[in-house]
Amino acid sequence: MITRPRRLRTTPVMRAMVAETSVEPRQLILPLFVVEGLSQPRPIRAMPGVLQHTLDSLRKSAVEAADAGLAGVMIFGIPAHKDARGSAAVDPEGILNVALGAVREEVGDDCLVISDICLDEFTDHGHCGVLASSGAVDNDATVEIYAQIAVLHAQAGAHVVAPSGMMDGQVGAIRSALDAAGAIDTAILAYGAKYASAFYGPFREAVASSLVGDRKTYQLDPANVREALREVALDVAEGADLIMVKPALGYLDVLRAVREAVDVPVAAYNVSGEYAMIEAAAANGWINRDAAVAEALTSIRRAGADVVLTYWALEWAHRRRS
Ligand code: PBG
Repeated sequence: MITRPRRLRTTPVMRAMVAETSVEPRQLILPLFVVEGLSQPRPIRAMPGVLQHTLDSLRKSAVEAADAGLAGVMIFGIPAHKDARGSAAVDPEGILNVALGAVREEVGDDCLVISDICLDEFTDHGHCGVLASSGAVDNDATVEIYAQIAVLHAQAGAHVVAPSGMMDGQVGAIRSALDAAGAIDTAILAYGAKYASAFYGPFREAVASSLVGDRKTYQLDPANVREALREVALDVAEGADLIMVKPALGYLDVLRAVREAVDVPVAAYNVSGEYAMIEAAAANGWINRDAAVAEALTSIRRAGADVVLTYWALEWAHRRRS
């Protein structure tokens, strides 16, 4: 036998030398939740280890993220009062706008302050947009609101805005509004391929979502990949600086296809349900938690993600240092 591939697997150093993929803290983004009026951080039941933050604990977590060398934090705001139009999202004193300002003040340029542009945390019906009289999500009216939100987020200090609502034309409208407001350097991380996924389940608890029904008229059908490529191409044409695929683990083929189709950086969102599954199995003693986390993150990078959004980001950075 001339060729024995096992020679390259004999010792940890040998294996590390030939590893084709790594997961670096500089490539990770930590999602964070901040709740208006909260007096103490509150655990999220379905996401063990993840908290709903107060403004104060949010600031501290962002500093930890910066100190750990993470790329950034993605901030989701949960207002005290939700209404049909999601008014708190366009209030400059609304929780997310205030939080973005506070975090930017705290971290400066040490890590990226990234904002979620969506209405689902702010609407009492839980949809990602405003509703027409028919009850359907009104695409164009929603996009106008997203554009206003983007400008507020940029003015509050976001380096990057991330529209997650899957409305048609959202990226172009946001780019024009940002430019008109002079925010030419604010980048757009577009959720180009966001699927209508059951794996967002725990997130709904995290943002106290009141959604009844589903998001299938705007988010992608899990059966489709060509349609994802079409969405992604539109986002790039409309000015997306980075493209996101979401969820990650069930969509590694989509991630690979998107990576090959575009020349902008590609991000993948390792979502709440993917996090919860590993945590729950580990809590039952059914899986080796640390190994499973490493394998999940490595697989997402191997499939083609330049950037990974994960609730394990801080832990991973600390693990890499120890
Ligand atoms: C919508 C949004 C969702 C997530 C991020 N942004 C939920 C949804 O579309 O229903 C899910 C993130 C996760 O599950 O970790 N603003």
